[in-house]
Amino acid sequence: MSLYGILKSAHSGWRYIVFILLVVAVIQALAGWFGKKTYTEGNRKLNVFTLVSAHIQLLFGLVLYFLSPLTKLPSSEAIGRYWKMEHISIMILAIILITVGNAKSKKVTDAVAKHKNIAIFFGLALVFIIVAIYMMTKADSSKTFFGVS
Ligand code: HEM
Repeated sequence: MSLYGILKSAHSGWRYIVFILLVVAVIQALAGWFGKKTYTEGNRKLNVFTLVSAHIQLLFGLVLYFLSPLTKLPSSEAIGRYWKMEHISIMILAIILITVGNAKSKKVTDAVAKHKNIAIFFGLALVFIIVAIYMMTKADSSKTFFGVS
């Protein structure tokens, strides 16, 4: 298998790690925010794991961007625009939101404020990722929402 093949499978499957961690982190943060809970070491660890998983996905994606035939398709077609511009920009924005949210939650000392930062920033990132994957299924007929390749 080529480096492209390996990275493509890794990036394709890793999305589930990012997605599951992000969903659990958001649920936990919402519960902490509205339930006025303490910010535990477990909470902090889950948020850091989510951040690290997103950064690993970014690394896979950055290399793939140069190896994939999809990013070489013309921008005049929706599929070319999606892989050249839309996927990378929306996903990087989502990863920035996760990075900023985690940093902000570290800066504040109040437990509820920590939960609130995570809930808002990670929650927004989750929405961005879902929108980008939905757009992928519209622009590229070879991809499906849950399909791993
Ligand atoms: C949290 C962030 C990200 C998620 C959840 C994500 C998710 C996905 C998914 C679901 C696919 C389709 C995989 C398949 O065909 O089975 C894909 C493909 C791809 N992603 Fe990402 N991605 C993310 C970030 C990025 C970033 C930041 C870049 C670029 C810097 C990137 C570049 C690519 C490329 C080039 C492909 C096409 C691979 C190919 O089929 O040739 N991704 N991504």
